[in-house]
Amino acid sequence: MFEALPEPKADAILALMAAFRADTRTDKLDLGVGIYKDSVGKTPVMKAIKSAEETLLATQDTKAYVSPLGSSDFCAAMISQVFGEKADKTRIRAAQSVGGSGALRVLADLLKKGRPDADMWVSDPTWPNHVPLLSAAGYTLHTYPYYDAATGSVNIEGMLNSLEKAKAGDIVVLHGCCHNPTGADLSDSQWDKVIDLVERKALFPLVDLAYQGFGDGLEEDAQSVRKMAQRLPEMVVAASCSKNLGLYRERVGAAMLMAKDEAEATRAHGLLGGVIRANYSMPPDHGANATQIVLTDTALNATWRTELEDMRLRMIGLRQAFSEAMRKRSNSDRFDYIAQQKGMFSRLPLTTEQLQTLRDDFGIYIVGDGRINVAGLPEAGMDKLADAICSVLVES
Ligand code: LMR
Repeated sequence: MFEALPEPKADAILALMAAFRADTRTDKLDLGVGIYKDSVGKTPVMKAIKSAEETLLATQDTKAYVSPLGSSDFCAAMISQVFGEKADKTRIRAAQSVGGSGALRVLADLLKKGRPDADMWVSDPTWPNHVPLLSAAGYTLHTYPYYDAATGSVNIEGMLNSLEKAKAGDIVVLHGCCHNPTGADLSDSQWDKVIDLVERKALFPLVDLAYQGFGDGLEEDAQSVRKMAQRLPEMVVAASCSKNLGLYRERVGAAMLMAKDEAEATRAHGLLGGVIRANYSMPPDHGANATQIVLTDTALNATWRTELEDMRLRMIGLRQAFSEAMRKRSNSDRFDYIAQQKGMFSRLPLTTEQLQTLRDDFGIYIVGDGRINVAGLPEAGMDKLADAICSVLVES
C-alpha cells in the first residue's frame, strides 16, 4: 500500500511556517502565514473571546453532540453578520463549519451534487490552498487573470475577458474582500461589472470571505456579498472566524447558501447536513459556541468590534509606514501601492533568489510568491526592513 504513494508536495505557506519556527536567530522576522500579530509579535486571544470562554466554562453542562449543521443560533448570527440585517433570510441558510476551509470544501461538495459538469474559476493568483482543496472536491479548475503588478490593482479587463469564456453554470470563486495574496480588491464599480457578467452568463458565485473586518470595516467588507445577494438568484459564501475573531486553531466558520426560494434553500441545507455527516459527521463546538456568545451579547459584541477595529487600523498604519520607508529607501514611488491595498496581504516584486537571500542573510521570511503578512511588519524596524529589501533588489 504505502510504497505506492507519491512523495507529498509541501504546502508553501505551512513549509515556511515550519522553517521559521526552526530558525534559532532571535532577530528573525515572520512575514509568512496569515495570522494577525500585535505590536510585540503576539497573536493574542481577543478579550471578547476570553470572556465568552469564561462564560462557557462556568455554564456549559454537557458535551453531548450538537448536530452536523451545528448551532442554529451561531448560524443565524453569522448570516446577519455577512448578509446584513435586511437580507431576505427566508432563502438563506448556514452550517457551522470547520473554519473557512471546511466551509469551502463542504460547499464545493454540495455544488458538485447540483451541477456535476460545472468547472470552477479561481483568480490568478489565489490562496494556494484553493487549488488542492477545490480539486479534491472533483473540479476542473480554470484561472482568470486578477492582478496588475505594475499598478498594484485589479486587472479588471483581463478578469472580465477571461470569465467571458466560462460556460453557463460554471462556478466563479471570488474573494469577498482583502484578496489573498495580493491585497488588491475590486472597487464598487468593478464589483458591479463582475456581477453583471455573472448574471448575464448565468455563472454561480462561491465567495470566500475570510477577512471580514480587516479591509474597510466589518459592514463595508460584506458589501460585495450583499450586492450579489440583491442582484443574483443564488450564491454560496464560505465565511471564516479565524482572523476576525482570532480563532485560528479552534476552526470556526460558516458555510452559507442563498437559494432561489425558501423550499430550495431548505432542501439544499438538508443536503449540506448530509455532506457534512459524510465528511466528518459534526463540526467542533467550542470556538463556535464562544463566537455565538460574542455575536449575540450586546456588550461583548461592542468589545469585539472595538478590538477588531483596532487591529484593522493598526494594519493600515503599518501599510503606510512600510510604504513610506520603501519610498525613502528605494528613492521611488513604486511601493506606494502597499498603502492603498486592503487587509492582511500585499505582494513584493521579489524573485525566488531574492526571497532566499532575505531569509538566509537577514532572517526575513516571506512566502515564495512575494506575499507579505502586513500584520507582521515591525513597527520599530521599518527602515531596517526596507534597507534589507532594497539591498536584494539592487543586487539583481
Ligand atoms: C494564509 O493564507 O496564510 C492563511 O489563510 C493560513 C493558511 O492556512 O494558509
